[in-house]
Amino acid sequence: MRDLPEPADLLDWYDTHARKMPWRIGPAERASGHRPDPYRVWLSEIMLQQTTVAAVKDYFLRFTTLWPDVHALAAARDEDVMGAWAGLGYYARARNLLKCARVISEDLKGAFPDTLPELLKLPGIGPYTAAAISAIAFDRPETVVDGNVERVMARLFDEHTPLPASKPILTEHAARLTPTQRPGDYAQAVMDLGATICTPRNPACGICPWRIPCKACDMGTAAGLPKKTPK
Ligand code: ADE
Repeated sequence: MRDLPEPADLLDWYDTHARKMPWRIGPAERASGHRPDPYRVWLSEIMLQQTTVAAVKDYFLRFTTLWPDVHALAAARDEDVMGAWAGLGYYARARNLLKCARVISEDLKGAFPDTLPELLKLPGIGPYTAAAISAIAFDRPETVVDGNVERVMARLFDEHTPLPASKPILTEHAARLTPTQRPGDYAQAVMDLGATICTPRNPACGICPWRIPCKACDMGTAAGLPKKTPK
């Protein structure tokens, strides 16, 4: 009987169950040590702020067809980029996207920074997005915490303190579990687990790779977690 969830169990599951997304690379490429293109990771993470994966896919494909790298995007006309963004919402993201592309193309010669402090200096990149880019594009052991990850942590550790008060506790659990092996895949694996198995309603605990150490599964409390303080 293990007490702590093993990142390796989740990574094994991810190798066969990862959701396919146009900004991800496949398992064979991952196994041969390839990394996804930082430009594509950055673009997808900006689009995914406040927007679902399903809504982002077509926009991502259109952007990468029109502007396949950061230099192409930096050279685009503002109105073309704003036009291609139309419908995605939160238009400040598109304005910052262009600003950021121009800084990276012109000042940084096209090289995306890989560390949190450098990423955080860029327009449109906050703590969540910086961690996601550093982990996913550069395989650095940064902890990426979104709503999916909070739910998975609340259940693994049967945390009954309601959100938002529990945020620091859940973040601490997530940080403690983040592995140094394959942290980029791990970050996306936790998101995928939250999106497909450890779902808000009717979690599929019976097929969860972390069923054994999950305290909420053990206690039968999973479906009611995380608790939330009413607004
Ligand atoms: N939401 C934000 N970033 C994501 C990613 N890389 N994969 C899936 N969902 C996400």
